[in-house]
Amino acid sequence: MRIDILTVMPEILESPLNCSILKRAQDKGLAEIHVHNLRDYTEDKHRKVDDYPFGGEAGMVMKIQPVDACISRLMNEREYDDVIFMTPDGATFDQPMANSLSMAENLIILCGHYKGIDYRIREHFVTKEISIGDYVLTGGELPAACVVDAVVRLIPGVIGDEQSALSDSFQDRLLAPPVYTRPADYKGWKVPEVLLSGHEAKIMQWRLDQAMERTRRLRPDLLDE
Ligand code: ADE
Repeated sequence: MRIDILTVMPEILESPLNCSILKRAQDKGLAEIHVHNLRDYTEDKHRKVDDYPFGGEAGMVMKIQPVDACISRLMNEREYDDVIFMTPDGATFDQPMANSLSMAENLIILCGHYKGIDYRIREHFVTKEISIGDYVLTGGELPAACVVDAVVRLIPGVIGDEQSALSDSFQDRLLAPPVYTRPADYKGWKVPEVLLSGHEAKIMQWRLDQAMERTRRLRPDLLDE
């Protein structure tokens, strides 16, 4: 999968994209992530990416020209499954969306900044608008990093144990059961006996019961839907 991220703040994306699993996915050639600084696509000598809004509202608006130049160049090079705009008024990101995006070949993710972007970009280029929750961040970079992380870890081969992505919380609309590691007794705080029993069927039943109990208690809305 190839992901092109368009931003006016490329620095914010550096460490989330270049550590841990996302780094390994790129090193293994399973994901190719390119960050484009929209300033590099400006045509004026001040490399301006924003301007005052028509109609006299407060705040600045991202200009159409650098975004058009960058997206048009990328679209000339290959076909994209989606052009995603990160925005608090988009559809709320969830696991089914991550699953579906993980099947894409090429994605563009556009990070908003300032008061917003010239609406014509949304009308003419954007195919999906995604929010990571009902709160407003200073820009779309951290939301984009969340989406990229959630999507790339689902690409087969990215995380070692294939099973572990499938058993994540939310994959079956249940929260994940608790997990433990050694020692089995730490300062008298004991790991549930069943996990030490070696009895596979009982362990599976315990995990399911725990997942159901935690979901009912912490996220009953997941069971309602
Ligand atoms: N940009 C600013 N806030 C955001 C949010 N909650 N989700 C996506 N993009 C954003």
